Amino acid sequence: MDEKVGIGIIGCGNISGAYLKAMASFPVLDIRGIADLNDDLATARAAEFNVTARDIAALFADPDIEVIVNLTVPKAHVTVALQALDAGKHTYSEKPLGINFAEGKRLAEAAKAKSLRIGAAPDTFLGGSHQTARELIDQGVIGQPVGGTATFMCPGHERWHPNPDFYYEVGGGPMLDMGPYYITDLVNLFGPVSQVAGFAITPRTERTITSEPRNGQRIPVQVPTHVAGVMAFANGAVVQIGMSFDVAGHRHVPLEVYGTEGTLIVPDPNNFGGEVELLRKGGAFEVQETTQPYADGNYRSIGVADLAHAIRSNRPHRANGSLALHVLEVMEAFQTASDTGRTITITTATERPDALSSSLIDGRLAR
Ligand SMILES: NC(=O)c1ccc[n+]([C@@H]2O[C@H](COP(=O)([O-])OP(=O)(O)OC[C@H]3O[C@@H](n4cnc5c(N)ncnc54)[C@H](O)[C@@H]3O)[C@@H](O)[C@H]2O)c1
Repeated sequence: MDEKVGIGIIGCGNISGAYLKAMASFPVLDIRGIADLNDDLATARAAEFNVTARDIAALFADPDIEVIVNLTVPKAHVTVALQALDAGKHTYSEKPLGINFAEGKRLAEAAKAKSLRIGAAPDTFLGGSHQTARELIDQGVIGQPVGGTATFMCPGHERWHPNPDFYYEVGGGPMLDMGPYYITDLVNLFGPVSQVAGFAITPRTERTITSEPRNGQRIPVQVPTHVAGVMAFANGAVVQIGMSFDVAGHRHVPLEVYGTEGTLIVPDPNNFGGEVELLRKGGAFEVQETTQPYADGNYRSIGVADLAHAIRSNRPHRANGSLALHVLEVMEAFQTASDTGRTITITTATERPDALSSSLIDGRLAR
């Protein structure tokens, strides 16, 4: 069988450019076509990246395509992923896996029934800085994990995204939009979450777009835009999380991780690189050498490349459906906790994906 894995991309909007650019650095990926509901968008992206624009149906029907990469908006993720499974394809979706836990479970069950793989973004936890942080924790430098903080707070994406509506529709909001980066990275560092508590509020029911070309248009808000919560991890650590589209500015770092012997500052989990800082008890923060590759650029699609290698070598892939479903359940649990005034027990079990270094040859992703 060919070493390369045939890829079809559905969804040619904002993020597709980052994928198409990064995919060129992973020889295992053979892009056989890209498609969008909007044909003009697909045609323009195809010309930009020297790939072929095709009909959505043609991608599903192509026997040389093994994986459908789903870069559509959140509310279409599960629909498109189920269509891909029905067509006999593995599928990898942008985050979140689905807009609620129930549809995520449906997707996971469908994949299991068909013995096909599902994967999902984010794959930034495979970045060199996050893998370095994990290596430090695994070496025991912070001692016994105790807790941490995870913070993403901004004034809202209507400042820059040309079509920000989906961020405020069901399936959007800061938790489902940005939570996947933070919670996935924390699972990479600490393992699975066991319980969730939290509050979710909607300070404004309407927002005004200030980006072009729709500057001045008002859009409705269907979801909470400020979430404050706590996650208890199965390893015993307790982490505070704040996700907001309602904060004008703040001074928190994205991720801090505490242990009995030290504190780690983990860089922005929306990026692959950044400085990892370690404070050993009694000392001061020191920048750590990044010991892992993929810290020096935007490798968005490395999760797809890892999936492709995993298919060929018959091993588990890292940005996998079990991890994404667990993260989706955790994210939804903040809302349930807020609605019910209770602490929510997480039902899905997942394992930390293997450290990336176990699949690296000459420092790069291989079998
Ligand atoms: N924009 C970013 O910076 C960014 C970063 C990381 C992740 N993401 C994620 O990527 C996904 C896409 O975001 P985006 O910013 O590219 O959105 P976008 O609105 O710019 O593009 C989405 C595209 O999907 C197409 N589409 C929607 N439903 C479809 C369907 N059923 N079949 C085929 N095409 C369909 C739309 O026509 C549109 O072109 C979202 O899940 C988002 O959370 C976006």
